[in-house]
This record gives sequence, structure tokens and C-alpha cells, in this order.
Amino acid sequence: MTFTPPAPASDYRDSGLVFPPGFIFGSATAAYQVEGAAAEDGRGPSIWDTFSRTPGRVWNGDTGDVACDHYHRWESDLDLMKELGLGAYRFSIAWPRIQPTGTGAVNQAGVDFYSRLVDGLLARGIRPVATLYHWDLPQALEDAGGWPVRGTADAFRDYAAIMGTALGDRVDTWTTLNEPWCSAYLGYGQGGHAPGRHEPGAALAAVHHLNLAHGGAVQALRETSSGDPDYSITLNFHVLRGLGDGAAEAMRRIDGLANRVFTHPLLKGEYPADVMEDTASVTDWSFVKDGDLATINQPIDVLGVNYYSTATVRLWDGTSPMQHNDGHKDVTGGTPWPGSDQTVEFVQQPGPYTSMGWNIAPEGLEELLVALSAEFPTQTLMITENGAAFEDEVAADGAVHDPQRADYLRRHFTAAHRAIARGVDLRGYFVWSLLDNFEWGYGFAKRFGIVRVDFDSLERTVKDSGLWYGRLARTGVLP
Ligand code: FCB
Repeated sequence: MTFTPPAPASDYRDSGLVFPPGFIFGSATAAYQVEGAAAEDGRGPSIWDTFSRTPGRVWNGDTGDVACDHYHRWESDLDLMKELGLGAYRFSIAWPRIQPTGTGAVNQAGVDFYSRLVDGLLARGIRPVATLYHWDLPQALEDAGGWPVRGTADAFRDYAAIMGTALGDRVDTWTTLNEPWCSAYLGYGQGGHAPGRHEPGAALAAVHHLNLAHGGAVQALRETSSGDPDYSITLNFHVLRGLGDGAAEAMRRIDGLANRVFTHPLLKGEYPADVMEDTASVTDWSFVKDGDLATINQPIDVLGVNYYSTATVRLWDGTSPMQHNDGHKDVTGGTPWPGSDQTVEFVQQPGPYTSMGWNIAPEGLEELLVALSAEFPTQTLMITENGAAFEDEVAADGAVHDPQRADYLRRHFTAAHRAIARGVDLRGYFVWSLLDNFEWGYGFAKRFGIVRVDFDSLERTVKDSGLWYGRLARTGVLP
């Protein structure tokens, strides 16, 4: 992808912008981050249960055992979305609730939970946007090798067929995978995410099997969905800045590993030759079999875009201490950049920052949307995640005044609007997240919600940013 930063002529703090009729304003969550009820109604263990129970993996020893208790509180959470005026809800299905060991018989209680959830959304006029996989792989499949082995992609196809049969009459949009970049490289390369392995070759095998799982799942969902759902996948794009003499080379390498190794097989049916060369010392790519690329290259109705911030890279000089400011939790022992971890470093970027330490750069979102639509002109896009963590405080009257989060959202909605004005076919925007929740390796320490969750009482309080977003969602006009 070619990145062209727009001139920094504005702070992106517009108001009064009118979004196109039918533009979808939603919010997003993921099963392990909100549901809790980890051992209820036949749910099997996932890699995130194992990982979060392993000392030292998650801050403060937090786990998703209870999380936001959404499994029991889903009805009032749906009421909250309706009160806010949200038009869509992006949630994920926990595979281990459906097939506790990842293969074999269906656990009907798990299917019933999501069936009730979908009905509850439709009854409230909210579109169900369902993700099949937001990182909670059944532990039994990891024990059999996980995403680095082909059998996991085969199992995923069967799981997709189960869900297509069960919910494909009512789901509005199917998303196969959320951020396969994280599943592959953080899970198997860097190790900051479950299952926490440090195997660069396995990370690349995981990339391929996740791509293959997507293609097989789209086929299975199409065969089994009796309604007229749309089909999608969500990727976390890396919007890059380059420094120094080798800037273009550093950006090419990271764009390849982060972006093109997904977009090219998914949307063009080929792996980028330069990525295969860059990683030749790590793997020979023999896990790519005849016919795989045709399976992977399924037409999709909408491409999901997750965006939070930019990344700045340069070629490492080989002697100075290497910088690792790629936005991912510092973990020793592995790398998420196989084949380029001794070549490219990630440089500290100018602020301001959110409490994740991520730089706030709304122009990066505009630039990303424009770049994607230039490269894939017929592909409809949807922002499936954007949002910010800040250190919220509860005021004496119980309210949560979070002007920084509303400001972050204003600036990114402005960026999205500018992309639309430049001709990008953007269907909607999902704020991450509806609720404060279990933020993976950071546990409950990072709050992304537009609704506060008190993790002792589990009480919900709509933050000021949530009220602001509700005004936008109800009117389609940036307040
Ligand atoms: C994304 C994840 C999501 C959440 C946000 C902050 O990478 O998809 O679950 O953790 O980051």
C-alpha cells in the first residue's frame, strides 16, 4: 500500500458534518472480553483461559472468568445500545461455547445464547454483525498444534457451517476473523497474546492457515446461511511512517508482513513475492498447498478496518539499542516481525497519546481508507474498530466526564467523513468499545468503553462520550 499523509492543515475537530443516509453507527465487543461465564452451559476452555491463568501473562493476574458478565446481562446491555440509538452491534461468538473442544458435537446451549442475542438485537432494531473468531481458540485445538497446523483451518470451516446453519437466517453481516495479524504474530511469534509461543516460522504458518480458514469459512457460511447476509473479514492495518535513508525499504518490509500478507491473498489470490523473500530464512512456505489461494480469494461484501494509530519505522543501524515501539505490549523472547526483526526498528512517535501509549493520529485513518480504496476500488469498507483508552474518573455525582475520548472520536469521525468526501465507499463505523472490558494482556487496567463498567459491582454508567456518540448515531450529524 502507498501511504500519503494528508497535509496537516487541520486538527480534524469538525462539527456539523452530515453522514450519508444509511451510514451505520455501531459499537463493538468480543466474547472473551465481555461475556464471563467461562465455565457455564458447557463452554470449553480456550487459549485465553489458559493464558490468563498462567502467572505473569496478564497484568494483575486478571482473567475473563467474569469480565463484564455480559453472558447474564446481555438484555440490559442491548437496552443500553437501543437507548443510545446505535444501529448495529459487532459481537463475537466464542467457538468453545459452540464446540467445547473445537471439533465434534454442537453444544446447543451455546448456540442458543447467540440465537437469543441475535433475536434480542433484531427486536430492538439493531443489526447483528457477528464475528466467528476474536481470538478464543478452543484449547483442544491448540493442544493439537493451533493455527500453525492445517487441521485448525479445517475445523474452522466446520464451525462456520454450524453457525451459518444456526444464525445465517438472521445475521446481518458475517465476519470470519478479527485481526488475524494479532492471532498469528502476537500469539505465535511475539508471545504477548495466547497461546504465547515464540516461533517465527509457526507465526507465518498461522498467517496462512488463518487466511485459509477465512476462505473456507466464507464458503461454508454461504452454503448454510438461508438469509441474505453480507460476508467480511476485519484486519488491523498498520499505517506507516518511515525515517532515515532506508525509510522506503523499512516501510515495504513492514507493510508486507502487516498488511499485504493478508490483503493480497484475500483480495487478489496471491502472496506477495517480496514477503516470501524477506522471510525465506524463517520458512519455505511449503504449508501453502495447491488450490489454497483459490480458496482464500473469496469475494467479500465488506472489508472491516480496525484503526487506532500509526507506526514509525526505520532500518536498524545494527548497533544502537533497538526500539520496539510498535504499539504492542513489551514481551521478551519473541518478535511479531519474523524475517525483519533484525532489520527494522519501531521508533517512538510524537504525542499526544492515549493511555495505551498509542499516538493520536486521525489523519492516518483518512489516509488508510483512501489508500485501501485506491488499491481495491470496488471494495466497500467499514470501520469495525476505532476508539481510545483513557484514565477515566468517576465524578462525585457518579458521572464519567471523558472529554478526551469524545475528542478522539470526533477527530476520527471527521477523518472518516473526509475519506467519504474523497470518494471512499465507507458503510459504517463501530466504536471500540461499548463497555470497558478485559483488554487482553493488560487485563482490566485499560478502559476503552463509552460505557463504564465497575468491575466490583458490574454496574454500567454511560460516559459523556457515550452520550455524545448517541447524539451522532441518532442524527447522523457530528455534534
Ligand atoms: C484490537 C482488538 C480489540 C481491542 C482493541 C483495543 O486489537 O481487536 O479486541 O482489544 O484492539
